[in-house]
Amino acid sequence: MPGLGWGADYNPEQWPEHVWAEDVELMRRAGVNLVSVGIFSWARIEVSKGEYRFDWLDRVMDLLHAGGIRVDLATATAAPPPWLTAQYPEMLPVRADGVRFSHGSRQAYCPTSPIYRDRATALAGEMAAHYRDHPALAAWHVGNEYGCHIPKCYCDTCAASFREWLRARYTLDELNDAWSTAFWSQGYTDWAQILPPRVTPTFSNPGQLLDFDRFADDALLELFKAERDVLRMITPEVPITTNFMSYWSSDDMDCWKWAREVDFVSTDHYTRQDWPRRHIDLAMAADMTRGFAGGRPWLLMEHSTSAVNWQPRNIAKQPGEMRRHSFAHVAHGADGTLFFQWRQSRGGSERYHSAMVPHAGTETKVYREVCQVGDEYKRIAGVVGSTVDADVAVIYDYESRFALRQPAHPTSAFEYQQCVFDCYQALWQAGVMVDFVAPGQDLSKYKLVVVPALYAVRDAHAQLVADYVAGGGHVLMTYLSGVADEHSRVRLGGYPGAFRDVLGVWTEEFYPLHEGETVALDDGSAATVWTEHLHARGASVIASYLDGPLPGVPAVTRNEFGDGVAWYVACGLDESGFARTAESALAEAGITPMNSVVKSGVELVRRRGDVSWLFAVNHTDTDAEIAASGVEVLSGERVSGRLTVRAGDVVVLREEV
Ligand code: GLA
Ligand code: ZN
Repeated sequence: MPGLGWGADYNPEQWPEHVWAEDVELMRRAGVNLVSVGIFSWARIEVSKGEYRFDWLDRVMDLLHAGGIRVDLATATAAPPPWLTAQYPEMLPVRADGVRFSHGSRQAYCPTSPIYRDRATALAGEMAAHYRDHPALAAWHVGNEYGCHIPKCYCDTCAASFREWLRARYTLDELNDAWSTAFWSQGYTDWAQILPPRVTPTFSNPGQLLDFDRFADDALLELFKAERDVLRMITPEVPITTNFMSYWSSDDMDCWKWAREVDFVSTDHYTRQDWPRRHIDLAMAADMTRGFAGGRPWLLMEHSTSAVNWQPRNIAKQPGEMRRHSFAHVAHGADGTLFFQWRQSRGGSERYHSAMVPHAGTETKVYREVCQVGDEYKRIAGVVGSTVDADVAVIYDYESRFALRQPAHPTSAFEYQQCVFDCYQALWQAGVMVDFVAPGQDLSKYKLVVVPALYAVRDAHAQLVADYVAGGGHVLMTYLSGVADEHSRVRLGGYPGAFRDVLGVWTEEFYPLHEGETVALDDGSAATVWTEHLHARGASVIASYLDGPLPGVPAVTRNEFGDGVAWYVACGLDESGFARTAESALAEAGITPMNSVVKSGVELVRRRGDVSWLFAVNHTDTDAEIAASGVEVLSGERVSGRLTVRAGDVVVLREEV
């Protein structure tokens, strides 16, 4: 792309053809330069088995090209058509309780179905052969949000694939050991006895659940790879992506794994409009996506111009909010931001979801703001390719997330995603830039590594954290880290088994708290959800409980280990207490915030390429002053020393350094 990508999912099949020309005209007015086409067009393209109709799509592609708009072309495989599922009902996915899904929404396919795979790869091949030389083709968009709606299927085909997946990793003896099947008389004597974790009388086997999570993710990834490989053979020059689902909704895809298989990373992010801190959630999702992309720029494939249709109350965005969201993604490393979708649907399940062109037309807040941002993006085209630096890393682990969402843990009140968010929020509020890294990733370039609930940790990954600290690194770790191994079996000899030495502590028993119970700490902070009976063994005690079940017991500790320092937050510390601990850890690690105004909700992010770009996004309703020098690119004004960022506004500085 010559500049920042700006556009949407474009679904022309929802409209009569006479609307298409107007679409392209309005896209040009809005500065649109990239659209995703055909994501849900299977039924229109392949009208019966092997009978492909490209004429209408040819006209769409030609119109877009004539309008100077590039296309992220879908393989159209996300929603199999009714003729296919009617002919092969066995390709429909099955729930854990045995119910087979019916046709009538989307993504109704079993991930291991040979029929689905065959028809999907055939369609991808036809699309590639037909559009390989089309000048509008910019990228391939494989499937859509893999794992959305149907991350797992429990049918007999999946059971057979699951067994194959297991046999490639274990002998039967090793499997029995890894799954602790001695418990509850689950010992397997034949592979044929092993099933997906279908509905059982009570808790399913934790090792089986975790391996099924891994298997199901791999099965979807194999599907993606099958389509990708077909595309690569026919159009080796065209980059291939599939849109991840940011954070909260991405429950089942291990994006670290997926990111290795795409040519560029793209993601979708929707704000929860009832969350006052949704801009922090957005920043976190963006930083995480930059992590998946290995620090390289990425594409925001979807967000919303205003309300969505799938929240309990679909709150419209405030004037200026979509603009802030768009710029914030770019600030955190996106080289383009697209929406779902171009024109708001008239019918169908998503007709109340906002779009770039609302039901009411173009004389609207939404379309005006769309045109404004489209115009502004042109002025900051130079940011394309620039990157973001961070001194702090957060280790983000899908396997711990998978393991901790299982039932029968010490408390059901703990949520991994919330724990990661709480850590991130403290760093955001401290005004420092954050990278996300996978467990096992090299940590040496970071001054501080934050480790939220790294629960089901492998020996090698735990060792890497210990080596990092021993070598002079600083770590801030929360409770529920290092408790279990990669099969979710508890590490013995006192918790947290994998990190006792580096933290200089050991815990003899967990003391989760009652709902609503708060325990006071001697530094004025408080804990909810979790406490543990911890003993300092070398660590210094930073704060202890005043009351609750463990008065006098250490709650926050700091340990010098080798040349580095390891902080341990052993309880569900409240926001101010965690912020204070994070600030101490940041200061000791020698990290200075970007700018003190960040605390009040003015976000500062720097992207560096040939030149340095400073983005300031004011999420508050009061003006703020920041230290800045250079040219404010959106207004063209020269700035020396100080700049006012008006309430709700965005500024972008080409800095003088
Ligand atoms: C997802 C899908 C889109 C659309 C949006 C609605 O991101 O990819 O097709 O359903 O959600 O928010
Ligand atoms: Zn299945």
